[in-house]
Amino acid sequence: MKTIIEPFRIKSIEPIRFTTREERVAKLEEAFYNPFLLKSDDVIIDLLTDSGTSAMSSNQWAGMMQGDESYAGSPSFFRFRDAVHGITGMEHIIPTHQGRAAEKILFSILGGKGKHFVSNTLFDTTRANIEFSGAEGHDFVCDEGKFPTIPAPFKGNFNTKALEEFIIKTGAENIPLCMVTVTNNSGGGQPVSMANIREVKRICVKHGVPMYIDACRFAENAYFIKLREEGYAHRPVKDIAREIFSYADGCTMSAKKDAFANIGGFLAMHDPKLAQECRNLLVITEGFPTYGGLAGRDLEAIAIGLEEVTEENYLQYRIRSIEYLTQKLVNEGVPVMQPGGGHAVYLDAAQFLPHIPPHQFPGQALTGALYIEGGVRGVEIGSLMFGKYDEAGNPVAAALELVRLAIPRRVYTQSHIDYVAEVIIDVFKRRNEIKGLKIIEESPLLRHFTAKLAPLS
Ligand code: F0G
Repeated sequence: MKTIIEPFRIKSIEPIRFTTREERVAKLEEAFYNPFLLKSDDVIIDLLTDSGTSAMSSNQWAGMMQGDESYAGSPSFFRFRDAVHGITGMEHIIPTHQGRAAEKILFSILGGKGKHFVSNTLFDTTRANIEFSGAEGHDFVCDEGKFPTIPAPFKGNFNTKALEEFIIKTGAENIPLCMVTVTNNSGGGQPVSMANIREVKRICVKHGVPMYIDACRFAENAYFIKLREEGYAHRPVKDIAREIFSYADGCTMSAKKDAFANIGGFLAMHDPKLAQECRNLLVITEGFPTYGGLAGRDLEAIAIGLEEVTEENYLQYRIRSIEYLTQKLVNEGVPVMQPGGGHAVYLDAAQFLPHIPPHQFPGQALTGALYIEGGVRGVEIGSLMFGKYDEAGNPVAAALELVRLAIPRRVYTQSHIDYVAEVIIDVFKRRNEIKGLKIIEESPLLRHFTAKLAPLS
């Protein structure tokens, strides 16, 4: 088989500003060892997120010029609505400025004290919106999903037994919905199988719990089903995606991921009564129902992006580039999540830096080392992000110490990925020199965004 090439040519480029190691040492110190506090101009390869960082196609840019900015009833809205309907089959389609705005509307209406939401794994903003409403969120990811370096085809699957037991124990009347996150971002961008989605649906129907999909990365998940699940190898990805949505009562979507848009999202559902309530809230928070929080040009970019994302040459290149980086690292013995996820490579910082205990933030120390070595920016998903303090004020570690290197869509080429592999491998070779960190300033909520840290001597 020949090399899987980028299925696009480059028409417009963004120059990368190079920095020296000495500059990066100083920049990281100025940023208090927190990659969120770095200026992106000082980053060479930016793998902080795959969200809103996609390169749009020439068709999308052309579509932007067609954007109709009418306040109500814009043709751009109808193109957007038809594109979303074409994939999800949902009747009620509500544009929002991004995924969390769709979550905010949905959980403001369905949440509240005494309510429980169940999921394979709720993404941070989803959980935060649930908790902000006074409700609780519960994750039921399968056992394979809990061990980063042990390979399995569908590590995003639900533990359906635990899910059903919880529904019975809690009472379906207290569970407004079950959220299936595809792919499972917080669990490593790992896919959920169609068989598992079907089983979750069966349980939801049996107990009368609506099933929703957090659809940010639906196309990547559909492609994994095509590659890995029996009976799907010859089905077009678009059909597979439609089958996923056919089981759902509704979905939330961040168009900043699998729609190649730099901003945008939506909420979609079958239930007309709930949709009306959502629109009522939309008008006071986001905007009129035919634009949500978006410009007409954004609606056009999303409509076109949703078509492009199910193209199989694109998905083959997309999934292959993550697998390619994962394989290069595995070959050198670097501890990395296996198999690779749909949108990111996750380094296991606990195994990478066993000499740094969780309360000295091995993941954060590793992000700093990658930045200094090669200007590569990733994000810690470990005890800085999820760690807590117990009642006595002692640090409580997160379950995993990971560093996520999220790959923006259609942005970097194979040589960029080769460079990232070289940087990681060089850091791995001198991992014993890397020191832990301590927090010198932190905020009570989502501290990883703004925390200031300093190296331990
Ligand atoms: N759900 C999932 C699974 C996500 O990954 C995200 C965002 C959201 C919901 C919220 O969407 O950002 O448009 O409001 N994930 C980004 C990330 C931020 O870096 O993983 P949003």
